[in-house]
Amino acid sequence: MSKGELIVGLDIGTSAVRVIIGELSGHSVNIIGVGTAKSDGIKKGSIIDIDKTVVSIRSALDHAERMVGITIHAAYIGVSGNHIGLDPSRSVIAVQSEDREITEEDVERVVAAARTINLPPEREIVDVVPREYTVDGLGEVSDPRGMLGVRLEVDAYVVTGAKTALHNLLRCVERAGIEVLGTVFMPLAAAELVLSEDEKKLGVVLADIGAGSTTLTIYERGVLSKYAVIPLGGDNVTSDITVGLQTGTDSAESVKLKYGVAEVAQALEEEKFKVSRIGSNVQNEFTSVDLAYIIEPRMQEIYQFILREVERLGYSQGLPGGYVFTGGGMLLKGAGHLAELELNSPVRIAYPDFVGVRDPSYVGCVGLIHHIARFYRRSTGNATASNRRVKSGAGAFQRLKNWIQDFI
Ligand SMILES: Nc1ncnc2c1ncn2[C@@H]1O[C@H](COP(=O)(O)OP(=O)(O)OP(=O)(O)O)[C@@H](O)[C@H]1O
Ligand SMILES: [Mg+2]
Repeated sequence: MSKGELIVGLDIGTSAVRVIIGELSGHSVNIIGVGTAKSDGIKKGSIIDIDKTVVSIRSALDHAERMVGITIHAAYIGVSGNHIGLDPSRSVIAVQSEDREITEEDVERVVAAARTINLPPEREIVDVVPREYTVDGLGEVSDPRGMLGVRLEVDAYVVTGAKTALHNLLRCVERAGIEVLGTVFMPLAAAELVLSEDEKKLGVVLADIGAGSTTLTIYERGVLSKYAVIPLGGDNVTSDITVGLQTGTDSAESVKLKYGVAEVAQALEEEKFKVSRIGSNVQNEFTSVDLAYIIEPRMQEIYQFILREVERLGYSQGLPGGYVFTGGGMLLKGAGHLAELELNSPVRIAYPDFVGVRDPSYVGCVGLIHHIARFYRRSTGNATASNRRVKSGAGAFQRLKNWIQDFI
C-alpha cells in the first residue's frame, strides 16, 4: 500500500452504517476502501440501542479493514438529524500582519471567534460553517486569504446538536474501538460534493431521502441558508408495503427493492411475485402494479412534505436551481420522475463519481471524506490522520474541540 495519509469517515444511518477510507494523493483524495453493515439499534437517525449500534459499526469497520488490509484506529463522524440546529453568529478581528495581508491564521481566528455563542447546557457545538466574510466593510467575500485589509468579519452558522444524541453517537464509536477525530455536519459535506457553484448561487434544495428521515439543506446566493428534517423516508414506504401486502418487514423491503416502482403508470402487470402472509405459510401473489399502488401515494406524500417545508422556510416559489436528491430512497425506480411531477421543478439525482460508491446513499459519507481532505490540505500538517493514533489522553470531546480549533 502507498504511504499516503488515510482518512476514515463514518456515516451511522438508520438503515446502514457506512465506512469509507480515503487516501490523500496530491490535491485529491482517492477512495480505497468501503465497508457497509446493516444498521441495528437506530431509529429515525437516533440511537435507541447502544450495544446493537456498536456491533453494526464494528461490522462495517471490519469490512473496510479487510478490503484495504489495515486496522482503523480513528475516524471522523458524520452528524445530521432533527436535533441539529444552525445558530447564526458574527465575529470581527483585526488583521495581524504588518503588510495587512489576510492570512490563513486570521481566517482561523475570526472563525474561532464565531464559536463563542451562548449555548444552553444541553447543546454542543458540532461544526462552524463560515458563510461569507467582510473585509473592511466589503461584504460577500467567499475567501479572504491574500486580500488586503485591517478588519476581517465573518458571518457564520454554528452547527449545534443535542448533547445526549452526540454523546451517545461518540460513545458507540469509541466502544467499537475507534477514536473520534472530529464531527462533521454531513449535509454540508454532501452539498460541497454534489452541488455546483451555479446551483448554489441560483438557489437550490438538497434533499436526502434516507430510511428514517428526509433532510433538506437549502443554498442561496452561494451559501448555506436553511436546514430542516422531515421524519419520513424509505422505511415508511416499506411499512406501508407490510400493511398493504400483509407481510413481514424483511419481505416487504426485499420486494420493494426488486419490484418497487414509484409511479403506477410505470409498473408492469406481467411482473409478478409471491410473498408469505404474516404469521402463516400461505404465499400470496401480487404484481408490480399492486405494489406501485402502495408506493406511489407515500412517495407523493414525501414530496408534498418537502414542498410544504420549503415553503415554510420562506421559499413559496421554490428555488431557481430546483432540487438535487440523494439518499437510498431515490434508488426506487421512477422516484426522480415522480419528484419532477410533484415538485414542478427541475430535479436531478446526485451520486459520488467514484468507483464502488456510485450510489446516492453514499453522498454523505464520501462528502465527509472530501470535506476533511480539504481542511487537511489547508492545515499546517499538525492534524491527526485516521491511521495514526492521537497521543492525547483527553476525552473525545476535548479532542474534538482541539480538532475544531486546528482546522477552522
Ligand atoms: N433499490 C432501491 N429501491 C427502493 N428503495 C431503496 C433501494 N435501495 C435502498 N432503498 C431505500 O433507501 C433507504 C435507505 O437509504 P439510506 O441508506 O440513504 O438511509 P440511511 O442513511 O441509512 O438512513 P437515514 O439517513 O434516514 O438515517 C431504505 O429505506 C431503503 O429501503
Ligand atoms: Mg443517511
